[in-house]
Amino acid sequence: MASMMKQFVIFALLSLLACTTNAQLSTFFYSRTCSNVQIIVRNTIRQAISREPRMGASILRLFFHDCFVNGCDASILLDDTTSFTGEKNAFPNRNSIRGFEVIDTIKSNVEATCTGTVSCADILALAAQEAVVLLGGPSWRVPLGRRDATTASQTAANTNLPPSTANLSTLITLFAAQGLNARDMTALSGAHTIGQARCTTFRDHIYNDTNIDPTFATTRKATCPGPASGTGDDNLAPLDVISPNRFDNGYFQDLVARRGLLHSDQELFNGGSQDRLVRMYSSSFRAFANDFANAMVKMGNISPLTGSNGEIRKNCRLIN
Ligand code: HEM
Ligand SMILES: *[C@@H]1O[C@H](CO)[C@@H](O)[C@H](O)[C@H]1NC(C)=O
Ligand SMILES: *[C@@H]1O[C@H](CO)[C@@H](O)[C@H](O)[C@H]1NC(C)=O
Repeated sequence: MASMMKQFVIFALLSLLACTTNAQLSTFFYSRTCSNVQIIVRNTIRQAISREPRMGASILRLFFHDCFVNGCDASILLDDTTSFTGEKNAFPNRNSIRGFEVIDTIKSNVEATCTGTVSCADILALAAQEAVVLLGGPSWRVPLGRRDATTASQTAANTNLPPSTANLSTLITLFAAQGLNARDMTALSGAHTIGQARCTTFRDHIYNDTNIDPTFATTRKATCPGPASGTGDDNLAPLDVISPNRFDNGYFQDLVARRGLLHSDQELFNGGSQDRLVRMYSSSFRAFANDFANAMVKMGNISPLTGSNGEIRKNCRLIN
């Protein structure tokens, strides 16, 4: 009996040790080493958004495209070099992903007061949250302590990031592969309440799909010519037709009215498993905001590098 007790105590101590050495992200991570990091990020993001309202959306997407490719490790920020192939030119990112200059500005502002302390991965997580708040969305406390990758994977970017042609089951599968459930997926898709998409990503939907409001399709066709014209690929349209620069639940109201811009958007409200949730979000901003914030924390927890893994990059575009 006594030896069983002893075994139990040793087991308990070992589990405790395992928990403390297997570092977790923490909202207090920089409270002693860079207590004003969030303020610095907020001020720089505010400037960037006042210069160009779309930038908030671009930064939010940057975080998503970072986290889905081998975790939230700032791998997306690495530039291609002659000896290094990064993620920037992967199919879902090429001619599309943007906001790198803003991240560079934040990084240099942070470095000026907290040299060599804050990772680019954490800057991206904080910047995404500040962008959402500044555009009217929910706030949440951002767990921190991520470190930066020394590698990137163009192949993983091509495989893991969802294409606009995806159907509902593919979307659910791609998010499940990252530990996110269907509800997380639908809530996170609400990010499309801000930002823009290029004609090339929604042409098939407005010309060929039938689950679309015909008036909306006609409006979009006016600036997104059909394939025969061979032009207009990069023409932009707002992902949320109601309020493209406002982080509200307009996106879900669009879906219910069959005014989703992307094929993948409308898949969330097309007679399938997410219809009920889409309807609920379309009538309750609070329900959406709450689920979105929780899902953002969950997405931000995808395979972070912690402890002595990875590095704190000096320049977000280059490994040290
Ligand atoms: C559910 C699967 C998703 C698909 C298929 C998808 C696909 C796309 C596509 C095709 C675009 C337009 C890109 C372009 O034309 O250059 C886009 C834009 C955008 N995506 Fe997604 N996305 C998805 C989920 C998400 C998630 C989870 C987030 C963030 C949490 C997000 C945030 C954004 C934002 C904010 C934009 C606008 C960016 C800008 O204006 O610069 N998306 N997405
Ligand atoms: C969804 O798309 C995948 C991949 O393109 C395909 O294999 C699958 O059959 C589709 N599922 C449905 C329900 O249409
Ligand atoms: C629509 O479908 C037709 C017939 O399958 C195809 O030729 C065309 O490329 C598709 N896309 C658009 C934008 O029309």
